[in-house]
Amino acid sequence: MSIYTASAPGKVILFGEHAVVYGKPAIAMAIDKRVYVSTEVSDHTVRYTNEYINQTIESVFKKIGKTDAGHDKNQIDVKIKSDIPISSGLGSSASLCVALIKSLSDLMQVNIDDSEISKMAWEIERNVQGFASGIDPFVSTFGGVIYYRAGMFHRLPISALSGWNFSILNSGIESSTKAMVNRVARVKTRVPSVINSIFESIGAVSEEAQTAILVGDKDKVGLLMKINQGLLESLGVSMPRLFDMFVHCLGAGALGAKITGAGGGGCIICLWQNEPTIDKLNNICSDWMNVTVSPDGVRKEVNEVI
Ligand code: PMV
Repeated sequence: MSIYTASAPGKVILFGEHAVVYGKPAIAMAIDKRVYVSTEVSDHTVRYTNEYINQTIESVFKKIGKTDAGHDKNQIDVKIKSDIPISSGLGSSASLCVALIKSLSDLMQVNIDDSEISKMAWEIERNVQGFASGIDPFVSTFGGVIYYRAGMFHRLPISALSGWNFSILNSGIESSTKAMVNRVARVKTRVPSVINSIFESIGAVSEEAQTAILVGDKDKVGLLMKINQGLLESLGVSMPRLFDMFVHCLGAGALGAKITGAGGGGCIICLWQNEPTIDKLNNICSDWMNVTVSPDGVRKEVNEVI
């Protein structure tokens, strides 16, 4: 029986997380770290504890029906290999869903186009997470640098960010996107006018950032990252370890740094003028990786072995 492999990139949100759930703009970039998924038909029943895998298989079968050979949704063997740490704000769940949909569509010999893949993955994310803006599945499906707002997006040229030195520093503290999105929703219920004006400010930061990225103004992008961090602190999604890493990045000469993703743990994204030395990064955090923008979104893999 044949094995079908697909992959999708992880992402970093450069500007606008949380506010994007409430319809404000955000800017995200697909990164050169991917999740690889292969599927094949099994001759026995297979069950998964991962809710994203179950929901994705369910969703694809609902759309397509059985395989040509009449196998059903309980006979799919899924294997995963990931360059991206899970529950760390880098969109691993969305990448998993997107790559799994692609792999299953190949297994079932049906074409599902990218726009449909991103919408299906968004629906799965909403089912599992509750509120979800959709930014993760869209970036993971289409790749590149994306300005996103309320289910609509446009691309910024990849060249705008290629050659920029970004590092991701992982706090090692796992975080739940669902819990953090719910936390912000609770604070918003208590002080709606205050939180709405923070969302407005985050939206304004994303708009300014788009222009700064397009004209290549790295200093301004760094400044806006620092402002965005302050606003995320105000929303209550930071924590001492993240703040500490933020301060150390700036102390080491970074142009800007901020939480990326839901916060409450996970990662800091940091922008440098020049490529940072290994010592500099090790002094801030033992778990880091330098990332660049990935032009590719979801894709079929022919030679990848999982
Ligand atoms: O932590 P991540 O990668 O799941 O990113 C979540 C981004 C949020 O804005 C917090 C939620 C969303 O659905 O946009």
